[in-house]
Amino acid sequence: MKQKKPWGGRFTKQTAASVETFTESVSFDWRLYQYDIEGSIAHANMLARCKLITEREKDVIVKGLKKILAEIEAGTFAFKESLEDVHMNIESALIARVGDAGKKLHTARSRNDQVALDLRLWTRNQAHEVTGLLKTLQREFVKKGKAFFGLIMPGFTHLQHAQPVLLSHYLLAYVEMFERDKERLQDCYVRLNRSPLGACALAGTTLPTDPVFTAKLLGFDGVCENSMDAVSDRDFCVEYAFCLSMIAMHLSRLAEEWIIWCNDEMKFIEISDAYCTGSSIMPQKKNPDVLELIRGKCGRVFGHLTSLLTLLKGLPLSYNRDMQEDKMAIFDAADTVRSTLSVLAELVANTNFHGERMMLACEKGFIDATALAEYLVKKGVPFRMAHEIVGKIVRECIRTQCRLMDLRLESFQAFSSVIEKDVFAVLGVENCIKNYKSYGSTSPGFVKKRIAYWEKKLSKG
Ligand code: ARG
Repeated sequence: MKQKKPWGGRFTKQTAASVETFTESVSFDWRLYQYDIEGSIAHANMLARCKLITEREKDVIVKGLKKILAEIEAGTFAFKESLEDVHMNIESALIARVGDAGKKLHTARSRNDQVALDLRLWTRNQAHEVTGLLKTLQREFVKKGKAFFGLIMPGFTHLQHAQPVLLSHYLLAYVEMFERDKERLQDCYVRLNRSPLGACALAGTTLPTDPVFTAKLLGFDGVCENSMDAVSDRDFCVEYAFCLSMIAMHLSRLAEEWIIWCNDEMKFIEISDAYCTGSSIMPQKKNPDVLELIRGKCGRVFGHLTSLLTLLKGLPLSYNRDMQEDKMAIFDAADTVRSTLSVLAELVANTNFHGERMMLACEKGFIDATALAEYLVKKGVPFRMAHEIVGKIVRECIRTQCRLMDLRLESFQAFSSVIEKDVFAVLGVENCIKNYKSYGSTSPGFVKKRIAYWEKKLSKG
């Protein structure tokens, strides 16, 4: 016997098997079960409060729903494809278990506001989890920044040696990025945390309900003000997918950088063997596959953002079945970013930084040239002229194959008479680092303070 559809009243024929398979969503939206049940319990409470069901009926419903929740969690609940989605599976199971009271649960509710609610609850929880993972990752970066404080590396622009920086300063740059990622999630949460429950199919209901009450029970900051908007709005999914994309992009930048850093030419870092993989043919290989996959998976997350925007762009108000496709995109985007964040935090904790390799790299590329130009500025030379003079000095060093600090005072003076013996106190990477002054710079004092700031901030919660 085929399953009777909860909406089957006006139908004279059974649904074709192909249609059942094509339209079902339970194979992926079953993941919403916890939120679906949480929403249904709140809804039942509201129905009782508004005298649309009795207290006893409410108790029966709530008990039944809790039992179903336990069964799903224990893995003994059988989701049926023929019942389309998680919502109808749970409702049908409730009716099968508790009878007539269960038939009243869907009063003043539609799957349209129900799915919007479930998805908001799921996204809310996800945003919270991702925030926690970002925090863990930030802590790992700060720990490394503290442990390796004092190491100097060449800072790059255009991937060319630019100016020396503290490794800790570099690491804290990522901590700032991840903080913005957290703030972005927080901002997305403001619009996300409104309850659509009560909008019903699209127009609201003629029954005396209290959506503000359910919103409160479910911890929302308010209700969606327009029922048509409430069931059509998936902006929160798009915003969340954007937040995830931004995180994935940040992680991908780091991955790219560290892939370069662990090759034999640079060898700035050594990732623990436990976080690298080998080659099936080349016995000597140790590859940064985790980082490469982090970079690769980023494309998948961007793809989901594009899918969501494209999915919504042609949809008239209000609910359209197209919207069922939102879940696969947002689920996979979240799963991908969550797994990336947690494996990366482990990888960072298991990475060692080679200070001597970084210092060696600092010897190349005249990375103290800007410090020399600023020295001239301090002696009264206009910056553009100072730039020109130092450019010429660099050219001379390239010709004679030496570093700036290897030139004799007389050679410097041939380029500018204002250069004195004290020039040697600005040359060389250590001097450069010591002399940085500006707010937010790689000045050791500033970086140290910032490490303390992050340690304190991240120790909470
Ligand atoms: N499975 C559907 C979805 O994910 C639930 C809402 C269905 N609503 C409807 N009117 N068919 O969007």
